Amino acid sequence: MTDMTFAERYGAWALICGGSTGIGSAFASEAASRGLNLLLTARRTEVLEATADDLRSRFPVEVRTVAADMGQPDIRDVIGGFVSGLDVGLFIFNAAAEPQALFLETPEDELASNIAVNITTPTMLTLDLAKPMVERGRGGVVLISSMASLVGMKLFVAYGAAKAYEMILGEGLWDELGDHGVDAFTYVVGSTGTPSWYNNPRRRNADLPMFDEQQMIDQAPGAPRRPEDVGAELFRVLDRDGVEIGPRHYSHPDDEATALRQGAASRRDLVSQAGKGTSSIWY
Ligand SMILES: NC(=O)c1ccc[n+]([C@@H]2O[C@H](COP(=O)([O-])OP(=O)(O)OC[C@H]3O[C@@H](n4cnc5c(N)ncnc54)[C@H](OP(=O)(O)O)[C@@H]3O)[C@@H](O)[C@H]2O)c1
Repeated sequence: MTDMTFAERYGAWALICGGSTGIGSAFASEAASRGLNLLLTARRTEVLEATADDLRSRFPVEVRTVAADMGQPDIRDVIGGFVSGLDVGLFIFNAAAEPQALFLETPEDELASNIAVNITTPTMLTLDLAKPMVERGRGGVVLISSMASLVGMKLFVAYGAAKAYEMILGEGLWDELGDHGVDAFTYVVGSTGTPSWYNNPRRRNADLPMFDEQQMIDQAPGAPRRPEDVGAELFRVLDRDGVEIGPRHYSHPDDEATALRQGAASRRDLVSQAGKGTSSIWY
C-alpha cells in the first residue's frame, strides 16, 4: 500500500463537491497536479466552467463538471449519473450551507438546507462512493468541517451543529473504512479568505478589515489563511508527507492548538465568549 503512487491510490478520478471557488478549487488544482482527472460540482455554471477551463489549461487531465445544488432532492441520482462508469478514487465533500443568524430568526428553508447540504448529502454520497472504494481496497474520502463545529456559537448554531456531524462522521469512518484500505477523515478548516468570506454581506456591512494577499501570507492579526495554503495542507496529509493519516486533520497547526485549548476550557466560558465574539462582529 505505501509503495503506491498518489494516482494509484486515489485515481483515476477525484470528485470534489463544491470545487469551483476558494478552497474547493485549490483542492482541484492539487489533485490535478498529481495526475488525477477531475469531477467538479457547484451551483453557478459560469464560475464552475471558468474554473474547469483554467484547470484544463494548466494540467494535462480531464475535467468534467455538473451544476447542481447539494441540497436538491435528487442529488444522489445526479451525482450517481455523473460518476457512472468512472473509477472515483478520491471524494472530497467541500460544499456547505452557511446560515448565519440567531436560531429563531433563521428562515426555515435555510435550516432545512443546512441539514440537507451539510448532513444528508455528504452522508448519502459517502455511502454511494465509499462502497466501490472498499471493493477496490483503496481510495480516499475527505469531509470538510470547520472550527465552528467545536463550540456552540451564537449566530452559527445550526451551521456549527451540522459541521459537528460531518466532523464525527469523517472521524468514525477513518476507523471503519481504514480496515478496508480506504483513507477517510475529517479536515477541519479555520478562517480562510475565500470569495464567500470576503463577500459576506455582514462582514462588509460591519466594515471589517479586508486583508490583501501579503497580509494573509504574513498572517497579520485577524487575517484569514489563503485558500491555496489550506488546499496544500490537505494534500500534504494525503501525500503522507511527514504525516500519518488520522481521523481528524486541521488546516493549520494553530487551529489544532486552539482546539486543544478549547477542549480543556469550561464550556460555559467558551460558549459565552465565542457568542460575544460573533455578536460583536455580526451585529
Ligand atoms: N472560508 C472559511 O473561512 C471557512 C472556515 C471554516 C470552514 N470552512 C469550510 O470550508 C468549505 C469551503 O468553504 P468556502 O468558504 O470556500 O465556501 P463557499 O464559498 O460557500 O463554497 C465553496 C464551494 O461550494 C459550492 N457550493 C456552496 N454551496 C453549495 C450548494 N448548496 N450546492 C452545491 N455547491 C455549493 C460553491 O459554488 P457555488 O456557490 O457556485 O455553488 C463553491 O464551489 C466549506 O465546507 C466550509 O464550511 C470555510
